[in-house]
Amino acid sequence: MTAEYKVDGAIAVITLNNPPVNGLGLATRRAIVDALDKAQADAAVKAIVITGAGKAFSGGADINEFGKEEAMREPNLNSVINALDNCSKPTVAAIHSVCMGGGLELALGCNYRVAAPGTLVALPEVKLGLLPGAGGTQRLPRVLGVETALNMIVSGDSVKSEMLGAIPGQKLFDKLAASPDSLMDEAKALAQQVAEARPLPRVRDLPCKHPEGDAYFQFARNMVKGMAKNYPAPARCVDAVEAATRKKFDDGMALEREAFVELMWTAESRALRHLFMAERAASKIADVPGDTPLRDIKSVGVIGAGTMGGGISMNFLNAGVPVTILETKQEALDRGVATIKKNYEAQVKKGKLKQEKYEERMALLSTTLAYEDLKNADLIIEAVFEEIGVKEAVFTQLDAVAKPGAILASNTSTLDVDKIASFTKRPQDVVGMHFFSPANVMKLLEVVRGKATGKDVLATVMKLAKKIKKTAVVSGVCDGFIGNRMIEQYSRQAGFLLDEGATPQQVDKAIEKFGFAMGPFRMGDLAGNDIGWAIRKRRAVEQPDMKYSATADKLCELGRFGQKTGAGWYDYQAGKRDAIPSDLVNKMIEEHRKALGITPRKISDEEIVQRLVFALVNEGAHILEDGIAGKSGDIDMVYLTGYGFPIWRGGPMHYAGEVGLFNVVQAMQRFARNPNDDAKFWQPAPLLAKLAAEGKQFS
Ligand code: 3HC
Ligand code: NAI
Repeated sequence: MTAEYKVDGAIAVITLNNPPVNGLGLATRRAIVDALDKAQADAAVKAIVITGAGKAFSGGADINEFGKEEAMREPNLNSVINALDNCSKPTVAAIHSVCMGGGLELALGCNYRVAAPGTLVALPEVKLGLLPGAGGTQRLPRVLGVETALNMIVSGDSVKSEMLGAIPGQKLFDKLAASPDSLMDEAKALAQQVAEARPLPRVRDLPCKHPEGDAYFQFARNMVKGMAKNYPAPARCVDAVEAATRKKFDDGMALEREAFVELMWTAESRALRHLFMAERAASKIADVPGDTPLRDIKSVGVIGAGTMGGGISMNFLNAGVPVTILETKQEALDRGVATIKKNYEAQVKKGKLKQEKYEERMALLSTTLAYEDLKNADLIIEAVFEEIGVKEAVFTQLDAVAKPGAILASNTSTLDVDKIASFTKRPQDVVGMHFFSPANVMKLLEVVRGKATGKDVLATVMKLAKKIKKTAVVSGVCDGFIGNRMIEQYSRQAGFLLDEGATPQQVDKAIEKFGFAMGPFRMGDLAGNDIGWAIRKRRAVEQPDMKYSATADKLCELGRFGQKTGAGWYDYQAGKRDAIPSDLVNKMIEEHRKALGITPRKISDEEIVQRLVFALVNEGAHILEDGIAGKSGDIDMVYLTGYGFPIWRGGPMHYAGEVGLFNVVQAMQRFARNPNDDAKFWQPAPLLAKLAAEGKQFS
C-alpha cells in the first residue's frame, strides 16, 4: 500500500504509507492523485487532509528511484502538486515528524498546513547535489520570506516546526498543533472550518519580493562561492530563489526544473547520492539479519589511557555511557584523565560545550588499576601497546574477569583479531573496533569481524556505533584491514613517483588539488613516518619481494619522523604545523634517484593523481575479491570518513566507475610499461579486469 484513502464525515483523509519515510515514489504519487480524484468525485467530501503514516509526513522524493525510469514517469511530483493546486476542494497538510524535500513541496501545494511540534522541516536536496525540483525554491520564499527560505535551501539543514512557526508574518503553517497526538483532530477541525472557503488560498499566488534584491543576491552568491567551491548546486539554488523574486511563478518553476535536471546528471550529485545510500548500506551486513537480538550496552571498560584509549572513552561519555579506564600505573591514569579534561575544557572555552555538560560527562568517568573493577562492564575495549604479548596478557585477564556475554573488543590496527580472540575461551565475544585518531573526532570505525565473532556481537557494535555518531564499516581480518591495506599501496606509488622525478610537494599539491584533505607526504609527517618504517621492516621479512622506494627509509634513518620530531618530508618551525619544502630532503631524493640510475622526468599532475588513486582502486578490488569488504560502497565510506577522500568524488571505487573501469585498466597497463614503475604492482585485480571487460562497475 502506498497511500490510504478514508472518508470521515465530510473529510477525506489521504495517508501516505510507503515505509520507511513515505518517499514519493511513482506508486505513491499515483495513489495521491487517484485519492484526490476520488475525493473530488464524492459529493459528501467537503475537504481533504493529507498526512503520513508511521515515522514521517514524508522524507521527499524516493531516493531509490533516482536515475531510474520511474522517476520520470507521470505523474511526476510537479504533476501531483499541480493536481493539488487545481483541486476543487480545500486541502490541508497534517505535518509531523519529518517533512523534507518533496514532502515539504507537497505540503506547500496544499491550501493549508498544520504542523505538529518537533517536526523536522527541510529542503535537503542540496545535500544530494540537487536543488528542490518540485517548486520548493519558488514556494518556500513566498511563505517564509526570501532570506529564511534561501538559508534553508542552500544549507539543506532541518529546522524545527516551532521555530519556523514563531517567525513573524510566516505563512508556512496556518496552525501549530498542541501536540503530535492532537495533530489529526486539529487538522480535521481546520478542514471542517475552511470547507466552504473560496477562493482557495494557494502559495503560488502569494507575492515574492526582496526590498534590496540586487545587493542581497550578490551577497548570497559570494557566500556560496566561498563555501561550496566544488559543488555546483548551491549557486543554482541562489539563481532559482532569485527567479522567484523576479519572474512570474511559472517561469520561475521552469528555471528550477531545468536546473534540477541538469544537476541530477552532475558527477557531484551522483557522488553525494552514492554517499547517502552507501552510508546507510554500510550498517547492513549480508548474513546478519536486521532483527538479530542485540546485547545491552550500559557500561564500557577501556584498557589503556593513551592516545586512543582517551579518545575512545570520550565517545562514550559524550553519549552518556559510563566508562571505567584501566591502566597499569596511577601516573598513566592521571595523564590520560588530564588529557580528556584538557580536551573538554578546550571545547568549553570555545563555547562548543556547556560547563554542566562537561561536568556531567566527567561524572560518568571512573578509573582503576584492578581488572576486578571491570567485571560488570558490558563492553571492554582494549587500546594498549601494539604488541601481541601485551594483548595476550590483557585478553587472558579479561577472559578471567569479564561477565558472561560481555563484548571484548580490540582497537589493534595491525594485529590478527583471530589470534587475539584465541587468547580467550569466548572467541564469539571478541571483535575489532578500529577507531581512527583522534578517536573522539574521526567519524570512521572499522568493525573487524573475526572468524568466530558472533552475529549478535556485530549487530550490537554496529548499532552502538550509531549511538556514538560513528560511521561503522565491517572489515574482515587481514593486514591493515580495509583502510590501511589500501593506503599502503597508495604510499608505495607515492614513493615511486619521487624516484622518477617528482618532489613531495608536487605530489601533495596534485592530490590536494584533486581534493584530498592532505597529500601522502604531509599525512606521513602528521601520523609519524616511523609507523610506515616499522611496517616496511616487517614486510622485508614476511614479503621480501614487495618493492618500495627506499627514500622513506632513508628519511627515517635521519630521524625525520615528521611533526613530532620537528622534521620529516618537510621542515617545521617550532610550534607550527606549516609544511616547508626541505632542501635537504629534496637533495636526498635526487641522490637516491642518481644511485638508481634514473633520469628524472616531469610527471604531470594528472599522472600523479591517477597513479595514487588507481593504486587504491586496485587494492580495493582485491579486498572485495578476498571478502574483506562486503561491498564497494563500504570501501568508499572508509575513504570518505577516515582518509580525507574528496566527498564530491564519492570515494575511490565510485570514482573509478565515473572514470570507467575500462579506462582505469588502460591507464594501469600504461603504467606497467614504465620501466621505473613496478609492472607487478599494476597487474589489475581479477575482479577489476573482469568488470572492466564486461563494461560494468563495482556497485
Ligand atoms: N527516499 C527513500 N528512502 C529514504 C528517503 C527518501 N527520501 N529518506 C530516507 N530513506 C530511507 C533510508 O534509506 C533508510 O532506509 P533503510 O532503513 O533501508 O536503511 C530509512 O529511510 C531511514 O533513514 P535513516 O537511516 O536516515 O533514518 P533517520 O531516522 O536517521 O533519518 C530522514 C530519516 C531524516 C528522513 C533521513 O533519512 C533523511 O535526511 N533523508 C533524506 C531526505 C532527503 O534528502 N529528501 C530529499 C529527497 S530529493 C527530493 O525530494 C527531490 C524533490 O525536490 C523533487
Ligand atoms: P599509546 O602508547 O598512546 O597508549 C597505550 C596505553 O596503554 C599507554 O597509556 C600504556 O600505559 C597502556 N598500557 C600498556 N600496556 C598496558 C596493559 N597491559 N594494561 C593496561 N594499560 C596498558 O598507544 P595508542 O596510540 O593509544 O595505541 C593503542 C592501540 O590503538 C594500539 O593497538 C594501536 O595500534 C591502536 N591504534 C592506534 C592509532 C593511533 O593513531 N595512535 C589508531 C588506531 C589504532
